[in-house]
Amino acid sequence: MPEVKKPLLEVKSLTTSFRTDRGLVRAVDNVSFTIDHGQILGIVGESGSGKSMTSQSILRLIGSRKSEQVNGEVLFEGQDLLKLQERQMQKIRGKEISLIAQDPMTSLNPVYTVGNQIAEVPMIHEGFSKKNAWSKAIEMIKRVGIPSAEVRAAQYPHEFSGGMRQRGVIAMALAGNPKLLIADEPTTALDVTIQSQILELILDLRNETGAGIMLITHDLGVVAEICDQVAVMYAGKIVEKASVAELFSNPKHPYTQGLLASLPKLGDKTRLTPIPGQPPNLHHLSSGCAFADRCPFVMDKCRSVQPALKKEQTEHQVACHLVNEEGGDENQ
Ligand SMILES: Nc1ncnc2c1ncn2[C@@H]1O[C@H](COP(=O)(O)OP(=O)(O)OP(=O)(O)O)[C@@H](O)[C@H]1O
Ligand SMILES: [Mg+2]
Repeated sequence: MPEVKKPLLEVKSLTTSFRTDRGLVRAVDNVSFTIDHGQILGIVGESGSGKSMTSQSILRLIGSRKSEQVNGEVLFEGQDLLKLQERQMQKIRGKEISLIAQDPMTSLNPVYTVGNQIAEVPMIHEGFSKKNAWSKAIEMIKRVGIPSAEVRAAQYPHEFSGGMRQRGVIAMALAGNPKLLIADEPTTALDVTIQSQILELILDLRNETGAGIMLITHDLGVVAEICDQVAVMYAGKIVEKASVAELFSNPKHPYTQGLLASLPKLGDKTRLTPIPGQPPNLHHLSSGCAFADRCPFVMDKCRSVQPALKKEQTEHQVACHLVNEEGGDENQ
């Protein structure tokens, strides 16, 4: 074993673009981050900010069509996934890296029972016998809190409710003991008790196997509960990145401040204060900061010059002229 372990996942300058009738859309724009073994990175941001496209680009679920282009590096234990043959990538998906997709139906095959689909994971990737794989499937169905696991295992996805399907996908993703789990809004469709049970399961995976986890969520409460680091995305870019404790106690980007201000305080009956305005249209981004039109602190410079994440600040990075000017020159 080498002395210095490579990071589990190192994403460098990931950029995903789509060619559309109305021009080029950059859904993921120069995104970089690292997830170490045993670390949970939360990714937050409004709808359309590029969270799912980031996860799908890492797993190469997009990028094969002519209209899609994925650039940058996705180093998984030092190996660039973007350079692998599709055949090699298939060995990594589901075993080394599992995805809990945002839409569970895209991960479930309607013609196989849920139990068979979960059992397939340890059979293919870990050489389990059919019988042992079936027992593992039932155990996983129980662990995600689906009652009557034996009966449910023999049912087809259409016989499951939406929340149960999502839990079926989670069971499938966890059945292979992945080194990296990418969970895209894994608990959104679930009620609160099941939600905390699933978060516990994700924590168990990390604690028992040292897996790294990328957790995409709208829910800052979930981030506070289980993440170590958090990256805030806006219009395809990471605008702020810090440890969870640091981000919650000292949010620096006006967008992050807005997100945190929209969180209801415990016992507070007043409504959420959403950030005024709409996310920008990715077809018509200005040359400046994408948040400028909604920013309460906007300056002239913000409308013409794009702020960069300062690389030398590894602990707490912010892409904002207001913040970065206080600390000296910006440095891309
Ligand atoms: N095939 C495509 N062609 C053009 N644009 C696309 C395509 N797929 C996604 N996009 C755009 O990419 C952007 C990012 O989408 P993405 O699904 O990553 O958002 P998200 O942050 O996951 O949002 P949500 O919170 O709603 O899940 C969106 O503006 C979306 O319209
Ligand atoms: Mg999404």
